[in-house]
Amino acid sequence: MTSSVLVVDFGAQYAQLIARRVREAHVYSEIVPSTISAADVRAKNPGAIILSGGPKSVYEVPAPSLDPEIYALGIPVLGICYGAQLMAQQLGGVVAKTGAGEYGRTAITRRGESALLADWDDVTNAWMSHGDAIAEAPEGFVITASSPEAPVAVMEDAARRLYAVQFHPEVVHSDRGQELIENFLHGAAELDSAWTNSSIIDEQVEIIRRQVGSEKVLCALSGGVDSAVAAALVTKAVGQQLTCVFVDTGLMRMNEGEQIEETFMRQFGVDLIHVKAQDRFFDALAGVTDPERKRKIIGELFIREFEAVARELGAGGDGPRFLVQGTLYPDVIESGSGHAATIKSHHNVGGLPEDLSFELVEPLRTLFKDEVRRVGEELGLPGEIVWRQPFPGPGLGVRIVGEVTRERAEILRQADYVVVDEIKKAGLYRELWQSFAVLPAVRTVGVMGDGRTYAYPIIIRAVTSDDAMTADWARLPYELVETIANRLIREVPGVNRVALDVTSKPPGTIEWE
Ligand code: XMP
Repeated sequence: MTSSVLVVDFGAQYAQLIARRVREAHVYSEIVPSTISAADVRAKNPGAIILSGGPKSVYEVPAPSLDPEIYALGIPVLGICYGAQLMAQQLGGVVAKTGAGEYGRTAITRRGESALLADWDDVTNAWMSHGDAIAEAPEGFVITASSPEAPVAVMEDAARRLYAVQFHPEVVHSDRGQELIENFLHGAAELDSAWTNSSIIDEQVEIIRRQVGSEKVLCALSGGVDSAVAAALVTKAVGQQLTCVFVDTGLMRMNEGEQIEETFMRQFGVDLIHVKAQDRFFDALAGVTDPERKRKIIGELFIREFEAVARELGAGGDGPRFLVQGTLYPDVIESGSGHAATIKSHHNVGGLPEDLSFELVEPLRTLFKDEVRRVGEELGLPGEIVWRQPFPGPGLGVRIVGEVTRERAEILRQADYVVVDEIKKAGLYRELWQSFAVLPAVRTVGVMGDGRTYAYPIIIRAVTSDDAMTADWARLPYELVETIANRLIREVPGVNRVALDVTSKPPGTIEWE
């Protein structure tokens, strides 16, 4: 493993963002809780440490602290916001409750030579979010920038390799924030830019080979990005030992199964079992309208289908011992509060059948979503898979409001294709978090040609979001909405009306069920 940076999490959502920014500078980063000891840090032997911001004041009791011996290890440390104030306080400086904090874009004035602000202008805008402020820097530090309410906006002690900034260089609103992070990493800490897509791939291929040896490996492909990239990595590592399973539930997007076959069977030459289980899913869903019951039925049936394949493969006694999972880094980060984040939601179709005794292969465990996409591209996966928007495990099943039938799934699949196709043509697909069609199982009256129609409405749902926790409805251009609506009515039999969902989350959810 190349040099890494430890990002100490003081409980704000900024730690993940910092870790991503460090990786954008091509240095590997890892998030650790603030309770980490100097001995643990030494054992990890990082190239640098960054202390994140946090929601607390250093005067609150209890406020998270840091083992002060960490500052004496000789490892370069950058404190950000709370991390900066904590560093100042622990090393003998003064943090004041000024009462006049700064929030939002703030002018930072540079003062003299600075390793962190190398090449910065005299005045630069940066994003502040602080109530307290460092009033006096500890001995040995030079103050290299100030803002109206933060006399010590940046302080540096080159001899001890300790640095601190009051503002948030990791957010995009800080004009030259990424530059500051890179000045710290490549300048002050002298770290190389060694974390690249190809280094990630080489390293994971090596780890997979070591883990699985000559044993067989099984992987469930869901059609989504994560399972596809995980499978592609395992293919590169031990392709001949891998069997992929794709269970078609009948609730997938248009051409999803064909595309998986095309990519994995024909392009990568992987052994792929395509289970066409549509009938069994539609039978199991007949008469069911409650969304949670639908989810449960789809999830359980998926596991049963998958188990059947696994059992068959193991019938001769030499079945797969390993199972590939597309678990990502945000799923496994231990937060500063010490409790592990929940592992991938269990209702996610494609999730792990719990009672199957496989050992897990998780080649994406250290990666963020954007890294997964770049690795996927480098491995030669088609853009259509790599850039696909998130899709719920139960698929179209939770986008048909009411009973799921084969006919409704077919109408919705076609309608969804039209919506996505036009969004792509308009160049908006990557900008949107999700964009899709919803089919409520009601029929409305219309008129087409000389005749009266009685058919389904389609609802266009398009949202922007960063993490699906909150979302805003996308302001699609009216011309685009018109084109989509016209195509839906013209091309999708069974549809006679189109509506646009203008609900944000909260109060709505992204999906309709
Ligand atoms: P909601 O609708 O709760 O969705 O705003 C948030 C995100 O989660 C996805 N979603 C699901 N994913 N199984 C999944 O794997 C599910 O049952 C499920 N329900 C919602 C949804 O698409 C959105 O990205």
